[in-house]
Amino acid sequence: MPKKTKIKMLNKLAELHKLCFPHRPWSADEFGELKKSGCEIVASENGFIVWRNVLDESEIITIGVHPDARGAGIAIAMIGIMENEVKKVGATKIFLEVSTENTPAIKLYEKCGFVQIGKRKNYYSDGTDAILMQKEI
Ligand SMILES: CC(C)(COP(=O)(O)OP(=O)(O)OC[C@H]1O[C@@H](n2cnc3c(N)ncnc32)[C@H](O)[C@@H]1OP(=O)(O)O)[C@@H](O)C(=O)NCCC(=O)NCCS
Repeated sequence: MPKKTKIKMLNKLAELHKLCFPHRPWSADEFGELKKSGCEIVASENGFIVWRNVLDESEIITIGVHPDARGAGIAIAMIGIMENEVKKVGATKIFLEVSTENTPAIKLYEKCGFVQIGKRKNYYSDGTDAILMQKEI
């Protein structure tokens, strides 16, 4: 892919991330670094999902849907795409962390078949706890 196109895509991704996570936006450079470090990114103008795969385990690093496009099944669809992709490379489990305060995301993950397997106290910079969730695939 031409470098200019890649930079444009990463900038668009950063803009969308800011709409989804206004209090902790990631820059285009950070997304570039994630990609370089081996993360997979699936993104459109309405949403993105980033994951990392190590042997038989995958981790959802982040997921977001444009505020105007929520409630239409986009997040479920993106998790479905991820599941198919990681199965192809031998993953049998997917992990993620989610804030105890993030009810929409917790409901989303439960609907996708994730179950709570632990809790991390004061995980986020604002002092909130994280729930550790897992799905066997
Ligand atoms: C969480 C998020 C990704 C969901 O995206 P979405 O495309 O709207 O989700 P979907 O339409 O695929 O919803 C799937 C299920 O998730 C749950 N859900 C989604 N939004 C919800 C809400 N606001 N309240 C309660 N449950 C919700 C529901 O179970 C829903 O199924 P249903 O519509 O049949 O009830 C989106 O709200 C978002 O981008 N939030 C900000 C970023 C974020 O918090 N990401 C997760 C970080 S861990």
